[in-house]
Amino acid sequence: MTDSNLQFKDKIIPIELPSQVIFKEIIGQGTAMLKIFRMVEKVAESDTTIMLNGETGTGKGLIARAIHEASGRKDNPFVQINCGATPEGLLESEFFGYRRGAFTGATSDKAGKFEMAKGGTIFLDEIGDMSADLQVKVLRVLEEGEFERVGGNRTIKSDARIIAATHRDLEEEVQKGNFREDLFYRLYVIPIMLPTLKERKSDIPFLVSHFLEQFGRKMDPPLAKVSDSAMKILMNYSWPGNVRELKNLIERLVVLHEGDKILPEDLPEKLRMETERAAHNKLGLQSNGISFNTAVSEFEKALIISALEKTNWVKNRAAQLLKIKRTTLVEKIKRYNLEKDSEAGS
Ligand SMILES: Nc1ncnc2c1ncn2[C@@H]1O[C@H](COP(=O)(O)OP(=O)(O)OP(=O)(O)O)[C@@H](O)[C@H]1O
Ligand SMILES: [Mg+2]
Repeated sequence: MTDSNLQFKDKIIPIELPSQVIFKEIIGQGTAMLKIFRMVEKVAESDTTIMLNGETGTGKGLIARAIHEASGRKDNPFVQINCGATPEGLLESEFFGYRRGAFTGATSDKAGKFEMAKGGTIFLDEIGDMSADLQVKVLRVLEEGEFERVGGNRTIKSDARIIAATHRDLEEEVQKGNFREDLFYRLYVIPIMLPTLKERKSDIPFLVSHFLEQFGRKMDPPLAKVSDSAMKILMNYSWPGNVRELKNLIERLVVLHEGDKILPEDLPEKLRMETERAAHNKLGLQSNGISFNTAVSEFEKALIISALEKTNWVKNRAAQLLKIKRTTLVEKIKRYNLEKDSEAGS
């Protein structure tokens, strides 16, 4: 892909290469995500093992699927196994399948995920949560490309491409003795580190638009907008749950919201508090002083915008809220050059 193809002006990427269709649902306009998209394109065609690292909700699952979809294996299965959520006793038979009679309840032969992923991709999610026992068996598949079903003695070849993911620091797990070093090196052939949402704040408005549209499509009236001041709060929040947390919030707002615009008071208290705290920190006098007039003006402007948004720009009501005369408000609106059009539509 050339650089010019990466100049996404709109959130819909011009459809030229198959991978661009795949990225359509993965929002990221900033350099951090563009780097990831480039990486996905580069690695898709090879059969190399990929290790996806990143905090919870950063999109590891999404990227794993994108790699598969962008690869020549896309018409074969993409098989996911969650090593963290599957009960330990079941994992081995889930991975490798079993022969009839291998254990109580094994009434017939069953293929495991590695067999199901023939010609395709196997996604080992939360690989850092695997037991030591299973780590040895997975290492063997990675090294020799073969395994046996539980209770079976026929060796089966695996040609599945492996993508693994974890939110843990696996290097640290190796040091603690929780994760095999040899398996670590086998997996970390091409590591891809997904950025946290906090590290790519400029993508927040695009993600908000995307989710508003996604969840708002079925609503009547179709979708809410986000006011300037609410967007500011969304941009300032630290998002420990990353994109998943933002997505869930927008879904909730779309379902529960009345009216056509999301205001700061519609947002959870936790988010508003963080912005207030940041503003307070700003108020703390630095050793080199503060521009008193600028700080006071900024505060005045923020209050006026907030009152105007709350009253849908009905100046009489906004003036009442601020307990000032309407003429005073109008004068200040003029002075600060405030216009209704400056709202961040989404
Ligand atoms: N860049 C993105 N654009 C659009 N949606 C995204 C993006 N990143 C993540 N999402 C969405 O956020 C949610 C969480 O993503 P995903 O499940 O891939 O995260 P994860 O890193 O696998 O998290 P976990 O470690 O908790 O499993 C999904 O619903 C996914 O569709
Ligand atoms: Mg995941």
